[in-house]
Amino acid sequence: MSTPLVLGIETSCDETGVGLVSEGRLLGDALASSMDEHARFGGVVPEVAARAHLEAMAPMVRTALRRAEVDLADVTAVAVTAGPGLSPALQVGLAAGKAYALAAGVPLYAVHHLAGHAAVDVLDHGPLPPRCVALIVSGGHTSLLSVGDLARDEVVHLGDTVDDAAGEAFDKVARLIGLPYPGGPAIDRAAREGDPHAIAFPRPLTGPSDPPWTFSFSGLKTAVARWVERQDGPLPVPDIAASFQEAVADTLARKAVAACADQGADTLLMVGGVAANSRVRGLVEERCAAAGITLRVPPIRLCTDNGAMVAALGDLLVRADVEPDPLDVAADPRARLTGALLHGTRPVAVG
Ligand code: KG4
Ligand code: ZN
Repeated sequence: MSTPLVLGIETSCDETGVGLVSEGRLLGDALASSMDEHARFGGVVPEVAARAHLEAMAPMVRTALRRAEVDLADVTAVAVTAGPGLSPALQVGLAAGKAYALAAGVPLYAVHHLAGHAAVDVLDHGPLPPRCVALIVSGGHTSLLSVGDLARDEVVHLGDTVDDAAGEAFDKVARLIGLPYPGGPAIDRAAREGDPHAIAFPRPLTGPSDPPWTFSFSGLKTAVARWVERQDGPLPVPDIAASFQEAVADTLARKAVAACADQGADTLLMVGGVAANSRVRGLVEERCAAAGITLRVPPIRLCTDNGAMVAALGDLLVRADVEPDPLDVAADPRARLTGALLHGTRPVAVG
């Protein structure tokens, strides 16, 4: 039998990502972004993203194959993000994934984007423990989860955000204070020059009678907006950025550490675009160390959307002998995370 080699394709937002993973090892990847084309609109325009995916797809696949020093004929399975995400953008990646699977004569896995964010950590830090708490903090989602075997088990939601996601709050606050899209990296940079204690922004839903695993970032964003409205002179952008970032980091750290204690989990897995934030990484690391919790966070470049994460998840599915999807599998832009496969966990293939 040939060595397993999974081609992963990611197009849920503005990143065209391709990765090649074999038995937990990233052999090569490639990433194109249409971010600059969206900057003047202050957010991603789905049709513009879809067109950019169409143009970047074949070059990115070729680049990833070249970097990995393999051919398409060596690929033994294709994994592609089928949701959640922007519908026109997802359609391009899913169609490409089907075409490559058909051309190579290999199985196709239509995977959940957020499970991919979690799976990517395996590439640098090895297999996940039998069970851990995962904090997913991305542009569209913020969730605390109980995660077992990512390929086979159902993911249990401990809590989600009731309004804005953490990344969305970064993007909206950046806009409020005149920083460019995407807001997360811009706030991270501006905050380096600021005082995180300059302004006391709220830590949402951290009171004793609040739901402990639920998030809400829209009130925090409004608190920043109100504070900005009250200023007459030039805005102290670094102080606002640092104080807002501190409020998010503190809120995430408190809830995640408390969830680990509640679940009896000794490992916290923190993933998604906001896990690239320097203060979020620093503070969560500090609080985990104090509580005796092992923190796993992917390297910064693999926190934001990429193809390696989809290939890493596909590789876990292949190695767990999970039944692949039919070639007419559909995308679902609003899919809730229940497990690795977009259309739910399926029994392991027999024979
Ligand atoms: O996971 P991701 O790449 O895409 C989604 O699945 O949504 O996350 C993108 C989000 C954006 O909101 C972006 O502003 C945020 O992650 N982000 C950051 C940083 N880098 C990206 N937020 C805070 N600090 C960063 N360094
Ligand atoms: Zn993402």
